[in-house]
Amino acid sequence: MTAAPKIAVVGSINVDIVVRAPRLPKPGETVHGDSFAMTLGGKGANQAVAAARLGGDVAFLARTGADDFGAFARKQLERFELCTRFVSRSASTGTGIATIGVDSAGQNAITIVAGANATLAAGDVEAVAETIRGAGAVLLQCEVPLAVSLAAARIARQAGVPVIFDPAPVPDEGIAAFTGLVDYLTPNETEAARLTGLPVTTRGEALVAARALRAQGFPAVIVKCGGNGLAFATADSEGEQGPIPVIVEDTVAAGDSFNAGLAVALASPRPFGVALGWARAAGALAVTRKGAAEAAPTAAEVAALLARHGLEA
Ligand code: RIB
Repeated sequence: MTAAPKIAVVGSINVDIVVRAPRLPKPGETVHGDSFAMTLGGKGANQAVAAARLGGDVAFLARTGADDFGAFARKQLERFELCTRFVSRSASTGTGIATIGVDSAGQNAITIVAGANATLAAGDVEAVAETIRGAGAVLLQCEVPLAVSLAAARIARQAGVPVIFDPAPVPDEGIAAFTGLVDYLTPNETEAARLTGLPVTTRGEALVAARALRAQGFPAVIVKCGGNGLAFATADSEGEQGPIPVIVEDTVAAGDSFNAGLAVALASPRPFGVALGWARAAGALAVTRKGAAEAAPTAAEVAALLARHGLEA
């Protein structure tokens, strides 16, 4: 039996308060919603759960509050059989919260209140330094202080462990501090547009943005275009890929499953082209289900979807 690929995730835990409505309200408007749910979210938690479901052996550094939301989040992590050894509690700050509106097309708009996520500090990364050094890939995002993600990226970089960085949400100060520390940068269209100042509304424009981000010092860039596929640019290849067609239920956290798929496949190790297929399939399967962390697919589901489309698993 081959060992499970080791994945280190440093990032946020949120409790997602999700309201589904025929359409999202405009500023100043009230609309009637159809349903409400409270689920585990946060880009860190979603990526950690997805990586575990995809067969990764996951270590997750994160923080909740010592409140009821934190207890709920912890219970959910345990339900997903994720080890909570490195998930600490802030005594002074509440658990991170995300309010999420989902419209009838499955599109979403998210507001986050960082809460305890903002209390993680660079020094906290020391607890997982050895784990990062022994990992096959590290997953980072921007819902904990940048100093934390930077500390994790530096440890990984020194050990030659691939860093997959989701610049989401794009920090006000930008991501220049991460140049030289990231192997794979994975913005969505909105994030790529913000980071480059270029329009990113088509796959062709996404490819131009991916090249521009490479020129900024990020060696491999994948721009996730949601239902429109993706564009990528690396030192060896570049191109555009259409979406794997699925029925869209809810797009929340599709990007998180995408990144987890990329990490697990690269750490397996699979070549970049195959890992991209895993990422696409994991993201596609996530949009067929409601929820954030719980929308993540299993490795068997990814393999089956890839096989149905004649893609290498
Ligand atoms: O990527 C989706 C996630 O963004 C949600 O789960 C929400 O918590 C926000 O972090």
